[in-house]
Amino acid sequence: MCGIVGYTGSKMAFPIVISGLKRLEYRGYDSTGVALLNDGLKVYKKKGRVADLENAIIGKDLHGHTGIGHTRWATHGEPNDKNAHPHSSASGKLVMIHNGIIENYAQLKKELVNKGYVFSSDTDSEILLNFIEEIKENNQCNLEEALRIALKRVTGTYVILLLDAENPDTIIAARKGSPLVIGVGKGEHFLGSDASPMLEYTKEVVYVNDYELAIVRPNELILKNLGNEQITPFVTKLDMELAAIEKGGYEHFMLKEIFEQPSTINDCLRGRLDAAAGTITMSGIENNITHFKNANRIIIVACGTSWHAALLAEYIIEELCRIPVEVEYASEFRYRNPIINKGDIIIAISQSGETADTLVAIERAKENGAIIFGVVNVVGSSIARISDGGAYTHAGPEIGVASTKTFTGQLAVLVMMALKIANEKGTISEDRYKNLLLELEAVPEKVDAILKSAEQLKTIALKYKDASDALYLGRGYNFPIALEGALKLKEISYIHAEGYPAAEMKHGPIALVDENLPVVFIATKDLYHEKIVSNIQEIKARKGKVIAIITEGDEIIPGMADDVFFVPFADDIIAPMLSSIPMQLLSYYIGIAKGVDVDKPRNLAKSVTVE
Ligand code: G6P
Repeated sequence: MCGIVGYTGSKMAFPIVISGLKRLEYRGYDSTGVALLNDGLKVYKKKGRVADLENAIIGKDLHGHTGIGHTRWATHGEPNDKNAHPHSSASGKLVMIHNGIIENYAQLKKELVNKGYVFSSDTDSEILLNFIEEIKENNQCNLEEALRIALKRVTGTYVILLLDAENPDTIIAARKGSPLVIGVGKGEHFLGSDASPMLEYTKEVVYVNDYELAIVRPNELILKNLGNEQITPFVTKLDMELAAIEKGGYEHFMLKEIFEQPSTINDCLRGRLDAAAGTITMSGIENNITHFKNANRIIIVACGTSWHAALLAEYIIEELCRIPVEVEYASEFRYRNPIINKGDIIIAISQSGETADTLVAIERAKENGAIIFGVVNVVGSSIARISDGGAYTHAGPEIGVASTKTFTGQLAVLVMMALKIANEKGTISEDRYKNLLLELEAVPEKVDAILKSAEQLKTIALKYKDASDALYLGRGYNFPIALEGALKLKEISYIHAEGYPAAEMKHGPIALVDENLPVVFIATKDLYHEKIVSNIQEIKARKGKVIAIITEGDEIIPGMADDVFFVPFADDIIAPMLSSIPMQLLSYYIGIAKGVDVDKPRNLAKSVTVE
């Protein structure tokens, strides 16, 4: 949430900062701002997108070799020009951008107001900045020292970047709970919420840790902890190409990411799955196999789409591995007082690896002796780094705010994990194990086949785009897909939608059914097929409109449903990876038909780094 970017070096900072902000817009896009240091400070900021800022500053002085930029997701204070970052201190000598929340801002504000401070915005960030300046002036110390003192008083989360008019070429940064990456170039440094702003300039990056402070100059990167001890920066080589974060000819990132799935699933399976040899190689599981084999319980924590993957994992792991699984919303788990026993395994599922609630949930569990296993997409992210073991989804950067390819990547990893553990534990028959390996191997090709029929979903989308509500129903392995389908529709079309287990709809949602209500059934051929056919009848008897996702060769449901979309046959455990694709496409086409900016739907952010 909120994107931050910075540059100091011999190039002009503005073009680097502004293009970095465009890449980080997925993190928030309420307002945008930049500050440039060049013989004094210049600050430009504007409510709205990066493009709005660009239009507003045509003809302005944009010189400066040191600059910072911010794209905001509002927490304290509505999105408007004055609440946009960067903020300037009372003296005008300091500017700051901030990603996170200062929880004790009210106390700090009170202290500053008593000293005569007046604030020009409603943000917690402006309070922190002036608190730092107050310490600097009171103690007659430099900015670095003032920041260190200030941060010892702060509760909450932050990544902050500071410029000081009296300290040329220097960016001072600090992190706690939100991500910060520093790119190391030749006589230049780049800063970002992720590595995307620096990709074309350097592949060498340093991931800053919590409670670390960085003093960044063109030829110097000093890392310190809050105790003023110097830390040697650990430089990592990025394994990411620029093409991965560009649209590549697609109208939207979301569409590109949906269509990338045959290759992203392949990337996820590659080097791990060998169906012919009957093996799965996953070092994260192998290193922890005794823990998994002896686990009395697995708890999975996640948020949003990742939570839906977690729910599916519960069904899969319990069926194949016979280990009890509990699925928790990370935001609930972190605050209640859950029972964690020695030997419990906590699996954290997260695309970004930075979701604040998931991160804190596993930190708490780790303190209580649990073993933490991360299923994460972003390499080097906070969750990946604090986990005891893990498996990356290898789906590549996902820019569209609504998760698509990372969801199917998560499912592929989770199925492989379950198969590997089940095989080691002996809770799966040899035949089923081998058959599921073959089924997994065939997924990319089947997804490709589904994508070839995408236009059919466009036609269906146009029929239902004006609905005000929708219901998504599924049973068994397709129930989490119903939840995910409803979430996708809400996120990018703003149509109210709910996902339910198909049988449970009789206990409430059926009251909503009339001739205007589209009901999406995920009704692929599985154990529950006859049952779900009855549920479709129940909806039709009440004149609801039925859109059914069904298996090729199904001759029953086409005669009942208003619209059908066929997917290839797959085993129950594998089928969700296929049925989730039409869910994504249906929402995408409805969102587009309604004129929604599907890559950046209102109020949402890709990476929720505040609780
Ligand atoms: C946000 C995103 C969702 C995502 C959720 C969890 O709400 O918009 O797409 O599913 O966060 O994020 P994570 O990175 O932990 O998977």
